[in-house]
Amino acid sequence: MINAPSLESLPSAPLLTAEFDIDPSAVYARLRNTYGPVAPVNLAGVPVWLVLGYQQVLDVLRNDTTWRSDIRHWRAHREGKLPTNWPLLTGYEIRQTMFLDGAEHGAARQTLYSALESFQDVRTQRGWGLRAAVLRYADELITTLANETGLTGIADLNAQYTKPLVLMLVHRLFGFPDELDSDVLSSFWQMLDGGPDAAAATARILEDMTELAAYRRAAPGDDFPSAMLAADPSLSDAQLGRELFVNAVYLTEATGNMILSTLLQFLGRSVTPTGNVPDRVITDMVNWVALHNPPIVNLNFRFPSQDVQMGNFLIRTGDVVVPSLAGAHEELASLGHAGGASRAHLAWGAGPHRCPSGAQELTVTVVRAAVSRVFEHLADAELAIPPSRLPWHSGLSVRGLRHLPVRYAIKPTSSVLILERPAPSLGVAGEPRGALAALRRGLRGIRR
Ligand code: HEM
Repeated sequence: MINAPSLESLPSAPLLTAEFDIDPSAVYARLRNTYGPVAPVNLAGVPVWLVLGYQQVLDVLRNDTTWRSDIRHWRAHREGKLPTNWPLLTGYEIRQTMFLDGAEHGAARQTLYSALESFQDVRTQRGWGLRAAVLRYADELITTLANETGLTGIADLNAQYTKPLVLMLVHRLFGFPDELDSDVLSSFWQMLDGGPDAAAATARILEDMTELAAYRRAAPGDDFPSAMLAADPSLSDAQLGRELFVNAVYLTEATGNMILSTLLQFLGRSVTPTGNVPDRVITDMVNWVALHNPPIVNLNFRFPSQDVQMGNFLIRTGDVVVPSLAGAHEELASLGHAGGASRAHLAWGAGPHRCPSGAQELTVTVVRAAVSRVFEHLADAELAIPPSRLPWHSGLSVRGLRHLPVRYAIKPTSSVLILERPAPSLGVAGEPRGALAALRRGLRGIRR
């Protein structure tokens, strides 16, 4: 293998094409057939290795001594060989837990664990309060739907339900004070839209998160930023701002996609549930989605600290390697291991950078609350267009529905019909001002 071709010398086709947007499975299958478990592809002109084999993805994720996450191990970056304005660079230059290695990573992860601990556990007052807030936001949004679109009609369960719901969740969990909140929510909306304003919106959010960090240092509250500072008072405002940013992205993008894909699975059944869907049934559906339609499809870059033989290639020190969850899951499916909701899925990652358990539990609590409320309030709901015509967005890292149009009828007995005024407080101590009102204010004036 001494004369093995370098990544730069191999022909590599762009990964993010129109075909990838519509049918990523076909792209993964073709790459696997052509190259085996590791394939050269390029991202906006930069060649990277895409790891598609299940075992190879696991090997990369589990061994953080060989496969580093810190971009200082990235050869092309260090040597200044990346094209100017390369679109993916901004995200990788936001130095936070995901891009740390070794002891520095361990300490940052411990802070996250401590800070998330009480929010994710519904047996604690904080955890219970957060879940109660999500249920109330769901009710408020369905009330708005009833008032603005009607008791029957066609609604987009992304724009009119899921997207505002996850933004309201961030608003509450992050404890945005009145004077900071309206702008950041509109920036989030624009970032999630992924349109031409998305890059500028991302930069603004990062600034807002740093401001929020400074605010909460001076005025601690019952919120996630204050819990992060309590867990590690040495965090600078800039560092906490970066951590808040990435957690907010996962809370909105990944969790939003999980809600939408879970709703889609229920709506795609011959009989849509109406009434109380048990938590157990929703959790099974979440596991099914995790395997067949993971919200995070490809993981963060890894950089080998030494030359490694993998698949049919020699991966050189400092090359970029992208572990592909979706590719690994396709391999499981092709081997016949993916009939049901397999525990072998890697949707939460694996190894030292695996999604923290507190974040996973928080996600499942939010998805259960969001999905159950839809079917509790609707007498009828069905997809308004055939599943094959649903519009998906496939980025390098996330894949989710752009819209989820449903034809619905609200139950005549639904409690939302008497909730035209703001929903009553469920007795949650320290509840901030209405998140829906903040969201409405924030969205005033931006293009939708
Ligand atoms: C459906 C929802 C979610 C999915 C599918 C998901 C998936 C993942 C995956 C695959 C990783 C590993 C990344 C890698 O190895 O490159 C990860 C890491 C992480 N996730 Fe989640 N996540 C979700 C929700 C959340 C939420 C709600 C939070 C925050 C509250 C969160 C916080 C994190 C953090 C901080 C890491 C980095 C851990 C580290 O580097 O040590 N995630 N997540």
